Amino acid sequence: MRILFASSEAYGLVKTGGLADVSAALPTALRRKRQDVRLVVPGYPEACRNLVDASPRPGPDGAPWQIIEGRLPGTRLPVYLIDWPEFFQRAGNPYTASNGMDWPDNAQRFGGFARAIAALARDEAGLDWTPEIIHLNDWQTGLVPLLLDPERTGVERPRTVFTIHNLAYQGLFPASTLSELGLPTELWHPEGLEFHQQLSFMKAGLVFSDLITTVSPTYAREIQEPASGMGLDGLLRARGEVLYGILNGVDYSAWDPSRDRHIPVRYSAEELSGKAANKAALQRRLGLEPDPEIPLLGHVGRMVEQKGMDLIHAACTPLVESGRVQLALVGSGQKDLEHASGALARTHPGRVGVHIGYDEPLAHLLEAGSDLFLMPSRFEPCGLNQLYSLRYGTPPVVHATGGLADTVVDATPEALASGAATGFSFTPDTLASLTGALERALALYRARDDGDWAQLQRNGMTRDFGWGTSADAYLALYRQWAPRGRRRAAAGSAL
Ligand code: ADP
Ligand code: GLC
Repeated sequence: MRILFASSEAYGLVKTGGLADVSAALPTALRRKRQDVRLVVPGYPEACRNLVDASPRPGPDGAPWQIIEGRLPGTRLPVYLIDWPEFFQRAGNPYTASNGMDWPDNAQRFGGFARAIAALARDEAGLDWTPEIIHLNDWQTGLVPLLLDPERTGVERPRTVFTIHNLAYQGLFPASTLSELGLPTELWHPEGLEFHQQLSFMKAGLVFSDLITTVSPTYAREIQEPASGMGLDGLLRARGEVLYGILNGVDYSAWDPSRDRHIPVRYSAEELSGKAANKAALQRRLGLEPDPEIPLLGHVGRMVEQKGMDLIHAACTPLVESGRVQLALVGSGQKDLEHASGALARTHPGRVGVHIGYDEPLAHLLEAGSDLFLMPSRFEPCGLNQLYSLRYGTPPVVHATGGLADTVVDATPEALASGAATGFSFTPDTLASLTGALERALALYRARDDGDWAQLQRNGMTRDFGWGTSADAYLALYRQWAPRGRRRAAAGSAL
């Protein structure tokens, strides 16, 4: 099948979070299954620098953008970068300026990106190629199904699949943006593009796409409930018959301790002894006291409300104070959480190590060197770090929500006995409940001479979350009948 995969980030070109990992690995996995898949990403400076075999070619006649054609580093995957200097040739993060605030023209930037994707879909740039499927990801691509809507354009379109990676980011803009972007004003109502008097790019994707997917079965159910639907649960229930949850996978060529280039000593489920050297390296790297025995708890991720960093601080402080654990944190995001993490490290030198910033090699070392990986996310569409930690023999401690609930098996006595256990999960997302899970984890770690701990590590390390299965599920969905054109969602009370 001919598939155009559109995303605002892709690992190897530019990355801020898990969306990039998925946008590189899923198309690559589909290509391995002999599909003609091509990736389209905005031409940020970093992406232009990283593209392999880059060659420019003109965009459609009169368009303010051109295409830079090339390949994703380390793969044969064809990539089209949308080289639109006014929108994308600027230093820094794809979404935010250096002060951490969203770029003020994000509606124009990603509205423009959507128009460019629609133009590629109609082959207006003379690529001599049209997709049968357009796979869109998150709000940055949300306008595409609307721009190609056959009821508005009178032209058949490729089947559109819209994947929600995180419902918390909806691409909301002031009402005036609707006319500024030349979008149909008759769609200014809650069944169309309006979300509480704002323009919602996410909603455009949800209302006008043929199929909707999200990145785990549990999250697919949760977002149809008011508690997790972020105000869109009514719409999602109305579209429930075309909403699917497909679990993300792991790119084991990048995330596997037996061949990871970023860690000093490699190891595997058969030969775990190398993990200790990685722990020592992580302790050195983050200024922690060298101590092979003390349990080292680690976390890496965006420092935002979602990830439960405040819970990590609250649960770990007493454990650190009593000298029972060390804590290693890597991440960046909200200034208050960055400052609180830094303060914790200053109060407990040698016991809490913090790196504020984005550091890919350090993320690998942290997965390899920690004894436990903390992921008390309040919600988690899928989560990749817990999957990485499973493969690195670092049992995760997770709040049983979304993809975390789908991927981690709690170490109950029964699950330990049957060999199913892979980590520790808790609910609800309270301090008491996280503390309880940590105590269970620490008790098992203390008794590790019994062999249960190593068994738990091996259980996780030998689970297979490779992309093959997920890519098959997407392929089956692409092939399945889906009504083309607009599927009007009934207005739910929650809209
Ligand atoms: P999300 O997409 O919500 O951020 P995921 O768990 O799906 O969460 O994916 C996060 C990805 O981003 C992982 O690959 C993780 O290692 C990476 N990551 C997040 N923050 C950092 C950081 N500060 N340094 C390096 N990698 C990071
Ligand atoms: C989002 C989610 C995360 C998911 C990732 C990739 O950023 O927060 O749970 O793993 O997208 O789908």
